[in-house]
Amino acid sequence: MQQSRIVEDAIMLELKNATQSLHDDTEAGHFNKELVMGRIPLEGYIESLAQLFLIHRALETHLARIRTDNPAIRAVVQDYQLQEPYLRADLDFFGRNPEAAIPTASVAEFLAHINRLAVDCPISLLGMHYVFEGSNNGSKYISNALRRAYSLEGNNGLNYFDPYGDKQREYWQAFKSDMALQTFNPNERKAMVDAARATFAAVKRLHEELFERFGTPISQAAVI
Ligand code: HEM
Repeated sequence: MQQSRIVEDAIMLELKNATQSLHDDTEAGHFNKELVMGRIPLEGYIESLAQLFLIHRALETHLARIRTDNPAIRAVVQDYQLQEPYLRADLDFFGRNPEAAIPTASVAEFLAHINRLAVDCPISLLGMHYVFEGSNNGSKYISNALRRAYSLEGNNGLNYFDPYGDKQREYWQAFKSDMALQTFNPNERKAMVDAARATFAAVKRLHEELFERFGTPISQAAVI
């Protein structure tokens, strides 16, 4: 019993260890840094929400469908974790029609990857979900910087970056224990880790595209 519990718990450790350096790269990326410093124009922030909307809509439509037949996904993925409604609310607040969003090149590629995995290996989508659910830990901190940078009030335009408010820590603990309680075979674990890594890579590419379009060129940033 003790042994199986240790093996089951290892999935969260495995995901964390396999993605730690990618996490740190993303956190230290130019787009993210400028966003936290309040130097991305509002238009760039809104565009990032539109791109994330496309990603979450695809991922979560599959997860919501697949969980009816997949006990592990059903046990882990809760309605409140679905980020599409938060993104819709934020885009509505800024007067941007979510349905009109056009994917960047990297997002179009990632959407195709999500759709492929939903057919070939549905459990991998849980690895993608892990990345976004985990990202709420840092997003909460970014949301305070965004509120100041764009003079936003309350949670207006910030639902995606702070979806859980005071429940952030509780919900993250719940996600981790629900994952730990599932039994995944080695192929499933590898599929989730690969998908989590691909998700970080996709977010990094999206951030690069957004920085190119909305960021302050590095040469200018150095003299500001
Ligand atoms: C300013 C940017 C960011 C900061 C300051 C930040 C900070 C953090 C912190 C402090 C944790 C640890 C929470 C805990 O275990 O109690 C964490 C976890 C995590 N973050 Fe970030 N983060 C940032 C950006 C991102 C981004 C862009 C993503 C992905 C889209 C991401 C994905 C994750 C994931 C998956 C975890 C869970 C790691 C685990 O398994 O324990 N983070 N982050």
